[in-house]
Amino acid sequence: MKNKEVDSLLRFIDSSPTPYHAVANIRKDLRKQDAIELKEDENWSCEAGKTYFVIRKDSSIISFEIPAKGITENSGFNIVAAHTDSPCLKLKPLARKSVGNYQQWGVEIYGGVLLNSWLDRDLCLSGRVSYMNDGELQHKLISIDNKFFRVPQLAIHLDREVNKGLVLNAETHMVPVLGLDSKEDLNDEILRELKVKGLKANDLKSLDLFFHDAAESTYGGLKDEFIYAPRLDNLAMAHASCVAQEKAKPSEKVSVVALFDHEEVGSESAQGAGSNFLSSTLERIGLCFKKEREDFLQMLSRSFLISADMAHAFHPNYTDRHDSEHRPLINKGPVIKTNARQRYATDSKTFARFAVYCDQAEVPYQVFAGRNDIPCGSTVGPIVSTRLGIDTLDVGNPQLSMHSIREMAGSKDHKMMIKAFSEMFKE
Ligand code: CO
Repeated sequence: MKNKEVDSLLRFIDSSPTPYHAVANIRKDLRKQDAIELKEDENWSCEAGKTYFVIRKDSSIISFEIPAKGITENSGFNIVAAHTDSPCLKLKPLARKSVGNYQQWGVEIYGGVLLNSWLDRDLCLSGRVSYMNDGELQHKLISIDNKFFRVPQLAIHLDREVNKGLVLNAETHMVPVLGLDSKEDLNDEILRELKVKGLKANDLKSLDLFFHDAAESTYGGLKDEFIYAPRLDNLAMAHASCVAQEKAKPSEKVSVVALFDHEEVGSESAQGAGSNFLSSTLERIGLCFKKEREDFLQMLSRSFLISADMAHAFHPNYTDRHDSEHRPLINKGPVIKTNARQRYATDSKTFARFAVYCDQAEVPYQVFAGRNDIPCGSTVGPIVSTRLGIDTLDVGNPQLSMHSIREMAGSKDHKMMIKAFSEMFKE
């Protein structure tokens, strides 16, 4: 069941260990497609039939394609929104003093990490470094992917009860070991990785670095029916939306892909889904075509938002976690997510509209509603639809091991989601 869509997804995931890298890779792809980069602090001018993109704070990106006939009376925005960040261990600002003869560096837990999955894995370290060079403050993405670090689990002999339920203290038990005491430390490795001549340790001003799994993504299962990879939540949906946008030519609506950082920590930041990034971008698209605020508000009411975030597949070893009617299965197609308390933004009209897209694309779809006795997660969907008042739907592909360092999904579902998104982007 190998296919080129998943091959491309796995390459994207492995080269995108952090939201910064994900956005840099999407930017590279967009430029290959002759998309034009716009800056928030410059005047914008847009032309019919062209694709543009704008990046905020290096970790959120919005791309949009204007229909060939420009913006007409019936235009609105057809949007897929997803997120670029995933739960992980983030380096704290200052190094630790050595413990015994171990070199360590403390971490903050970013998002809802399945902590146990990070034990005894080979870890790399990537992100953004800020440093002084020639009297100027500069910023660069780095990836230390040829040195491996580790959070070692305690031996069973020293914790005989461990298999009754592993209890991990997020502050004390999750500190990665970087090496043994020596004259060199992590700062020296970062300096080497920056590849800037003459730089010294005190030129390093600030680090925004994240640990991540060193292992490559792969297909899995007897028939390659699975994907095993980190960050499927939510790089899989980020990738699917970009591929669909590239493929489908919009006829009347502006097609928009909005990928936000900070979903896993609540979306409330300048580049998060709770910010003005999407609304100001959409309004500025209208302004390029001499649309007034009145026109823009009318365009919003003709718009549609698919909030795309991975869904929980039915788990064979925990069959009681789904109700028997709402059990999304791997490789059985996109999952429409509903929740009466509006943790998902789907309503019956947006549900029906997506179901029609799936029918048109000849793709099956599934439905998820949680158990009343298990609280459900949320997505950028309710946040963006609350801010903008756009008709919104929550969907995602089914996966297991969500928020583990290594997740698992289906190799057929990815293409089906791309097809469903393409139906919307064609409008
Ligand atoms: Co997610």
